[in-house]
This record gives sequence, structure tokens and C-alpha cells, in this order.
Amino acid sequence: MDKVTPRKTVNIALIGSGFMGKEHSKAYSLAPVSCPDIMATPVKKILCDAIGDKVAERARLWGYEEWCTDYHEILERDDIDIIDICTTAFTHADIAIDCVKAGKFVICEKPLVTTMEDADRLMAAVKECHAEGRTATGFNKRRWPAVLYAKQLIEEGVIGKVLVYNGRYCQDVVSRRKTAWPGSSWKRSGGMADCTSHIADMCRFILDDAYDSVVGLTYPMVPTLPIRLPEPGEDPATIPTYTTDSEDLAVIIAKMKSGVTATLYQTWAYCGAGEGISFEVHGTKGSVRWTGENPSVLQLAVDYGTGNTGFKNIIMSGSPVDGHPYRNNVPGHRGFGVGVADNMAFQAYEVIQAYCSGKPYNPSFVDAYEILKVCDATRESTRTGQWVKI
Ligand SMILES: NC(=O)c1ccc[n+]([C@@H]2O[C@H](COP(=O)([O-])OP(=O)(O)OC[C@H]3O[C@@H](n4cnc5c(N)ncnc54)[C@H](O)[C@@H]3O)[C@@H](O)[C@H]2O)c1
Repeated sequence: MDKVTPRKTVNIALIGSGFMGKEHSKAYSLAPVSCPDIMATPVKKILCDAIGDKVAERARLWGYEEWCTDYHEILERDDIDIIDICTTAFTHADIAIDCVKAGKFVICEKPLVTTMEDADRLMAAVKECHAEGRTATGFNKRRWPAVLYAKQLIEEGVIGKVLVYNGRYCQDVVSRRKTAWPGSSWKRSGGMADCTSHIADMCRFILDDAYDSVVGLTYPMVPTLPIRLPEPGEDPATIPTYTTDSEDLAVIIAKMKSGVTATLYQTWAYCGAGEGISFEVHGTKGSVRWTGENPSVLQLAVDYGTGNTGFKNIIMSGSPVDGHPYRNNVPGHRGFGVGVADNMAFQAYEVIQAYCSGKPYNPSFVDAYEILKVCDATRESTRTGQWVKI
């Protein structure tokens, strides 16, 4: 038996051991297997969560060496290279500011923060610490092979000059939500923070464009809800209600700097359907479209003047002749398909590459700030009924 020659390592501390904390943790394990050219192997060093009894067990199950309940302990550790923030959205600002000031490379889940006040505080810290190149935002939808291939086809001019972009993100929150949060819902994380942020970023990324101005509308579709669930035997009608300001719906028309018109549609009324994220881009020669409900397939229609109109399915496989950039990293057989675990692993891979190479990660916190401005402008447009400059 021979000893394995160890690879360079990068130490990770992850804060927030909930739904996304688990997906990011899986990604750090998968990335070095899926992406053999990764510049270092991520080591899961510390898992932090404010809730102590669950974090100890999760750290054990997910392969971390240590755990803690106060993230400040991580900031003092010289052996931590990357801090990954997967906490509840409204907590990101304070944690990210502390991580930036500690000089760490930081990846933070989206939405970067939930209010412009927090955004401005965080941007001030990034500027003061010259930290933009050490920041990453978890807009993982950019890492789907089909999304990247669509961007590539557009850049190659396959669909001609882009005329219109449509992005859509639907979730079934309305049918699952039984109580209202007593306080401002969107400042914790509403539909725009959660979902519109993703599709606004995808539009900017896929078109390699910038927002010029938006007009839009956002509001809670089921505004009045009980403040808590009834106790056994309690009459639900006696429970006080609260009127939420949650942004269940957002409909946005955006003028991009290039002149392209983009429409963004986000709803939490996707009842019975679960989750659906998609985009469609129309150009002078053709169209390209993708849905996260069938993530391994990109659909392309090109007018070759032959009369055979219609979309053709392009499967994102691991064939060396495939066009997408992760062709060496997805399962090799066509029928295997690409899943969320692959998508998250590609994000982890890009973070490790950025950290090791010193090249800035895109989207950085500064990129995410542009998306926060789009969400905030939509709120202003809802109040005024006017177009708002970004
Ligand atoms: N990129 C995506 O596709 C995607 C999908 C879902 C959620 N998210 C984002 O990920 C983030 C987390 O969402 P989630 O669904 O995992 O939430 P979650 O509620 O499942 O987990 C959040 C965890 O953070 C912990 N936490 C909160 N404040 C803390 C603090 N100060 N210190 C330590 N731990 C703390 C909580 O105890 C909890 O375990 C949110 O910003 C959300 O918008 C992104």
C-alpha cells in the first residue's frame, strides 16, 4: 500500500447549520471529487450555530472538526481561511461586517442583506478594508451548466441581438405559511430578498448588462394571518391576527443599460407546484430558455430560414465535446443529469479557486449591492407608481 500525497488545504468555518448550511457543507465534500483541478481541498474546520444542541450533532455528522455557538470565536482564529455565512438573512449584515473587518475571505448567502441601511454599512466596511476581492455572494444559480451555456451562446451571437429577457421565480410559500411574523417581514427576508434577488442577478449575469431603471409592484398576497398556531382545542378565530408586509409578489419591468427590456416575475403563490425558476431570452435570430424544474436541459431555437421552427433540447452532460464549462465535472452519462448538489459544488469550487488564485470572485458583495438597489427601487416604484433610476 502507498501513502497518498496530500493536496494543499483551505480551512473553512461555516456559520448557520440550517438548510443552506447543510448544502454548502455537502458542496465542500463534493467539489474536490467533481472538480479535480481545484487548487486546494476544503477542510471543514468549524461549524457554528446559535443553537448549541443541534450544531454539535450536525458538526459530527457533516464532518467538521470543531463547533461553536458564537461566531466571534471564529474571527480570532488564524487557521481559518474562508468564512461561509449561511444564517438567516437579516443577520448577515453584522456577521459579514465582522468577518470583513477580521480580514477573512467571506462567502455570504443571498440576499446579502435585507435593507439598504445594512447594505450601506456593509459596503462601508468593504471599502474601508479594501475587501471587495475577498467577498463572494451565494448566487448559486449562476453555476448551473445550462445557465452558463446560455450566456455563452448569447455572447457568441447564436440568437442574434438580444431584444428581451424574462426571468421568473415562483415558490409555494402562501400555502405553507400559517402565521405572520409580528414585525416587518421583508426586513427579515421577504419574497424579493429570497427570490427576486436570484432572478435579478441572473439577468445581469446572463446578459452581462447593468440595470438602468425599473418600474414595479410588490405586495403581500395574503396580508392578514394569525400571529400563532392554535393550541389543541383552541378556537382559531380567537387568535389575534397581524397584517404582514411580506413581499409575496413582485412584478418588475427593467430597462437595462444596453437598451434590452427585462421583465422579472416573482410569486409565492406557486401553490401545489413547489418551486420554479426559469428564464427566457429572445434575440433577432433565436431564443434560449431554461427552467430549474428540468435543470439538465437548455432549450435553444434558432431561425435558420429552413422552416423547422421550435426549441431543441441540449443536455448538459459530461461529454468532452459538450459546450458548457463544467463538462468535465458533471456525471459522464447523458441520462444521469445535473442536480443541486453539483450546482452547489461548482459554487464551492469557484470560491476555492478565487481564494487560492487571488482573482476576485464574481458575484462579489459589490455585485450583490446592485441587486439590493433593484429590490429597493421596486419598493419605491410601488409607493410612487414611477420609474426609478438605479
Ligand atoms: N442560494 C439558495 O438557493 C438559497 C436557498 C435557500 C436559502 N438561501 C439563503 O440561505 C440563508 C439561510 O437560509 P436557510 O434556509 O438555511 O435558513 P435556516 O433557518 O434553515 O438556517 C439558518 C441557521 O442560522 C442559524 N443562525 C441564525 N442566526 C445566527 C447567528 N447569529 N449565529 C449563528 N447561527 C445563527 C439558525 O440557528 C439556523 O440554524 C438565507 O439567507 C436564505 O435566503 C439560499
